[in-house]
Amino acid sequence: MAEFREERRGSTEVWTIDGEKRRNAISRAALVEFEQRVERVSRGHATRAVILTGAGERAFCAGADLKERAGMSEADVRAFLAQLGRALRAMERSDCVFIAAINGAALGGGTELALACDFRVAAPTAELGLTEVQLGIIPGGGGTQRLPRLVGPARAKDLILTGRRVNAAEALAIGLVQRLAPEGRLLEVAHGLAEQVGANAPLAVAAAKHAIDEGLALTLDEALALEQRHYEKVLASEDRLEGLAAFAEKRPPGFRGR
Ligand code: COA
Repeated sequence: MAEFREERRGSTEVWTIDGEKRRNAISRAALVEFEQRVERVSRGHATRAVILTGAGERAFCAGADLKERAGMSEADVRAFLAQLGRALRAMERSDCVFIAAINGAALGGGTELALACDFRVAAPTAELGLTEVQLGIIPGGGGTQRLPRLVGPARAKDLILTGRRVNAAEALAIGLVQRLAPEGRLLEVAHGLAEQVGANAPLAVAAAKHAIDEGLALTLDEALALEQRHYEKVLASEDRLEGLAAFAEKRPPGFRGR
């Protein structure tokens, strides 16, 4: 059975985790399907953006499926984490833009899923947290590394060592989410963001995404050299010439992704 519902609007896909009864917790089956989905959109060029959200109004994703976890061996847990790590990394390496539309609780792996997205948009009822230490574990899907890169080490410790949950307003204030959607308009705001990004040159968006992500782990000099390498990709593109022509002719550009 499919673990996600899928809808397409233009070049944007919406993936809804379809497990409302378990608050969209990630089972092994859901993770397998998720990894396949990320591989699929990353291979082709038809999908520019993916909006990830959860079924129902209570949760975006309540993290790992803790009921399933109770029956898993240590080796099973290791294998799950390795696959989760691969899938989240594949999102970051993908030319697609991933937008988390956080419609409720995003806890543990739910927040980690959102952290691996390029953008996080929150409903007023969203609640985020890396609650793992309350369960005797630590974030194992990249949370201890991606959260400090996003909000700084002090704020990351404030969240991870306490395990406390933050509401949408606090998440926005600390930069954990980028947009707060008015009530009932979460997907509209997420689609608006996807369309804004989608109007831009595909190669340029991908190069800029990777320049930002890859540069974070480098020294400034290395990172500036990296930026130039990514610039080379767009310098040689037809879309760069189209951008210049459209500017000169005072018309919107028609980018073709080459
Ligand atoms: N794994 C498996 N099942 C989960 C789950 C999880 N991570 N989170 C919630 N559920 C299940 C509950 O056990 C409950 O199942 P039941 O109906 O068989 O009792 C059902 O989802 C509804 O949960 P409930 O707590 O009643 O819903 P709520 O809407 O009041 O609260 C949450 C939703 C997500 C805020 C709350 O369930 C919660 O805090 N879950 C724990 C999440 C967590 O700590 N995740 C971190 C994992 S590292």
